[in-house]
Amino acid sequence: MAEPIVLGYDEAGSGPVLLLVHGFPLDRTIWAEQMRGLSDIRRVVAVDLRGRGKSPAKETDAWTIDLYADDVAKTLETLGVDKVDLAGLSMGGYVLFSFWRRHRDKVRSLALIDTKAEADSEEAREGREKTAALVTEKGSAALVDALFPKFFAPTTPDSVKQEVREMVENTHPRTAAADALAMRDRADSTADLGRITEPVLVVHGKEDLLIPAEIGQAMAQGIPKTMFVPIPNASHMAPIENPEAVNQALREFLSTQPV
Ligand code: MLT
Repeated sequence: MAEPIVLGYDEAGSGPVLLLVHGFPLDRTIWAEQMRGLSDIRRVVAVDLRGRGKSPAKETDAWTIDLYADDVAKTLETLGVDKVDLAGLSMGGYVLFSFWRRHRDKVRSLALIDTKAEADSEEAREGREKTAALVTEKGSAALVDALFPKFFAPTTPDSVKQEVREMVENTHPRTAAADALAMRDRADSTADLGRITEPVLVVHGKEDLLIPAEIGQAMAQGIPKTMFVPIPNASHMAPIENPEAVNQALREFLSTQPV
């Protein structure tokens, strides 16, 4: 297995750390509004997962969601952070589940956004291989056509879509392919839900076309200490589609956490 690396990140604010993990095939800039909107209550750290943005990587062999979680842990170690509030968008949520299993002593709270606990079905696993092949053959721009019909609510402005398009196109095809295969092989986290006794916020775009909001709501119901907040006017990219509502949910949740 590849060795964990220290990830590149942007940060804003001071105090207890809120670390943000982006989704597929994006980068840290998806969190720009959370960095702006929450830096008065947290030191907000938005990482680039390996192989993109500020976290370049030469090889993409054998990347796994567990490795991504270990990269986050190594980054926190370098920052000298013992306890952290974590927020993850979609694939970032898969990373959070793995982080909870592997580095639970560091978790103060979790915010799971537009994500789910289930592993891939057989059909979804085959889809990941097709995604990896598509991006390898045609480049990252091909993912725009594949993903955009599900990423956004009808009300989402073109300027937001354009920002996300740039993130997708800036993601190296090898990185996107490695992400797809890492998601294919991720563990099922459903059995963990009842054991997560740390506070959890579940935030979900009401109109999420990729992972329906009912799945997020059912996930929340399985977690002992949880709050579920549906986000209007948002599909799968809630933090950038409706940042005000997502920030309000995060602010209310984080304000209740003893630090
Ligand atoms: C993501 O948004 O991170 C991914 O599309 C999630 C997934 O495909 O399972």
